[in-house]
Amino acid sequence: MPRTSSEPLSEPSSEPFCARTEALRALRQCDPLAKADAVRALYASVLQGDAACSPSSPLDEPPGLPGRPERPELVEPRKLGRRSMQSPEGRAVLLHALAHIEFNAINLALDAVWRFGGMPAAFYTDWLKVAAEEAHHFSLLVARLAEFGHAYGDFPAHDGLWDMCERTRGDVLARMALVPRTLEARGLDASPPIRARLQQAGDHESAAILDVILRDEIGHVLIGNRWFRHLCEQGSLDPHSTYVQLADQYHAPKLRGPFNFEARRDAGFDEAELAALAGLEERPPAAE
Ligand SMILES: [Fe+2]
Ligand SMILES: [Fe+2]
Repeated sequence: MPRTSSEPLSEPSSEPFCARTEALRALRQCDPLAKADAVRALYASVLQGDAACSPSSPLDEPPGLPGRPERPELVEPRKLGRRSMQSPEGRAVLLHALAHIEFNAINLALDAVWRFGGMPAAFYTDWLKVAAEEAHHFSLLVARLAEFGHAYGDFPAHDGLWDMCERTRGDVLARMALVPRTLEARGLDASPPIRARLQQAGDHESAAILDVILRDEIGHVLIGNRWFRHLCEQGSLDPHSTYVQLADQYHAPKLRGPFNFEARRDAGFDEAELAALAGLEERPPAAE
C-alpha cells in the first residue's frame, strides 16, 4: 500500500520499507527543517535495518523537484553582494549562503539515492549518510544564524548546485564526477580562507561550525571518488581522461586555486590529480 505524507517514517512492520522511495519523499519535502529531520530519521532507519534500498526498482520522477521553501529568492550569482566579515550582518549573510549550500547538498545527496538504480547497496547507504550529515550542517548553520536574528530565507541565494544536478540527471558517472568531485571538492578549497576570516573577526562559534563541515565534507568527496572510480572500473574507463571529458561535456566550472591539497588528498584524489591541480595554481588564470 502506498504511504501517504501523514504517515510516520517508521511504522511497525516486519518488512523493511524502501529507503529510495523515502529519499524521494524527503527530496519533495518543502519545509527545510522537516526535510532535515526526515533525512536523519531515514538514515537511522537504514542503520537499524527498518529501511532497505531496492537498487533495481525504477522510480518515476515527480514534477517540481526539489521541494524547497518559497524563500530564499533565487537570483543570478552575480547579483549576490559580498559583505565584510567584520559586521554581524556580513557574517549573517555568509552563514545564510552556507546554509543554502547545505540545503542544496541535502537535495543532491537524496537525488543520488532515488534517481540512480542498479548500484550496489553501499552506494545508497553512502549517499544517505551524506544526506544526514548535510542535514546536520544545515541545522548547525540555521541555529547560528538565529543567534544573529536571522532565518533561512532572509537573504537571496543562487541555484548553481541544483543546476549541475539537473544537467547530470541521466548519468551517474557524470554526477559523481561533477557534483562531489568538483563542486563539493571546491568547498574543501573555500573553507580555510572563510574560516580564517571568521576567526579574525572573533567569531569562534561560526569558525567551529566550519571545522565540523570541513571534516565531514572530506568524507563526502571521498565517497564521490569511491563511486566515480568504481564506475570507471566497471566501464574500463581511465578516470583521469574521463573526468576531463565529462567536465568539458557538462560545462563544469573551471578549477581555480588556491587548492586545499591536504584535504583533497584525504578525500581520495590521487597524486596525478593533485599534480594537475598544482599545475593550474602555477599558471596565471586564462582570460575568459
Ligand atoms: Fe555539508
Ligand atoms: Fe557534502
